[in-house]
Amino acid sequence: MSTPAEIKACCAASYGNDAVALVLGESYHPGGLTLTRRLAELLRLRGGQCVADIAAGPGATARLLAADHGVTVDGVDLGQSTVEAARAATAEAGLAAKVRFHLGDGEHIPLPDNACDAVVCECAFCTFPDKPAAAAEFARILRPGGRVGITDVTVAEGGLPDELTTLAAWVACIADARPLGEYAAILERAGLTTVHTEAHDEAIGRMIEEIEARLRLLRMTASDRLVRAGVDVEAVLRYTALAKQAVADGLIGYALLIAEKPGR
Ligand SMILES: C[S@@+](CC[C@H](N)C(=O)[O-])C[C@H]1O[C@@H](n2cnc3c(N)ncnc32)[C@H](O)[C@@H]1O
Repeated sequence: MSTPAEIKACCAASYGNDAVALVLGESYHPGGLTLTRRLAELLRLRGGQCVADIAAGPGATARLLAADHGVTVDGVDLGQSTVEAARAATAEAGLAAKVRFHLGDGEHIPLPDNACDAVVCECAFCTFPDKPAAAAEFARILRPGGRVGITDVTVAEGGLPDELTTLAAWVACIADARPLGEYAAILERAGLTTVHTEAHDEAIGRMIEEIEARLRLLRMTASDRLVRAGVDVEAVLRYTALAKQAVADGLIGYALLIAEKPGR
């Protein structure tokens, strides 16, 4: 049994591995930037507002929000190499004046109270061992009337088979995923009222298939890079097959949720 600190460190280190970018592509969540655009629309972002992207990964979402909506973005991620990669890609895109990245934990966000018009958290709330602490942090950094937009893995009531609750499953954002209603209840207890939800279950099945296709291609064209990065392709493919079955059985899905901090 891993401790919460071990789980967080393992998750952050795994997403900092070079092979992850090869296998996941630009955006590290089901639905990709298309779903991020939908999330931004529902957050009703306006130019000049400030947004926090919690567990920002390589920063594709933060850059999209700044470029398309004219907002400034503070991205926070627990992975040192992930933050460095996000900063480099952002400088290369000419967006460094609008998008900053901070090394930090979603359960202890390094931003002041009431600082943000919106908080975004994609495919990461499910990995936080202390979800109530993260929800309280979202509420703390949001200004009254501000909105939080989450997209995340959901599980059916009754949970998952044991083989999908391992440490690898934590990294794959599955092990501690919850039913959508439970995410809303956690946010509610932190003072955030859910105002809109959408199911995007098809997005997670599509992402697993894309991961499998990229892995099979890389196995043929760049197997040395995978070996250097410590990726056991067969083990990952065994795991994706299990996850795909769980999606087909309706045990795993993906959802979008918008919640609001009351007051203005
Ligand atoms: C599945 S990726 C999602 C990245 C990004 N939100 C996206 O959708 O492209 C999960 C990210 O969460 C980060 N992470 C994991 N635990 C974290 C924590 N406790 N605080 C901040 N970031 C965390 C990882 O380093 C990784 O970059």
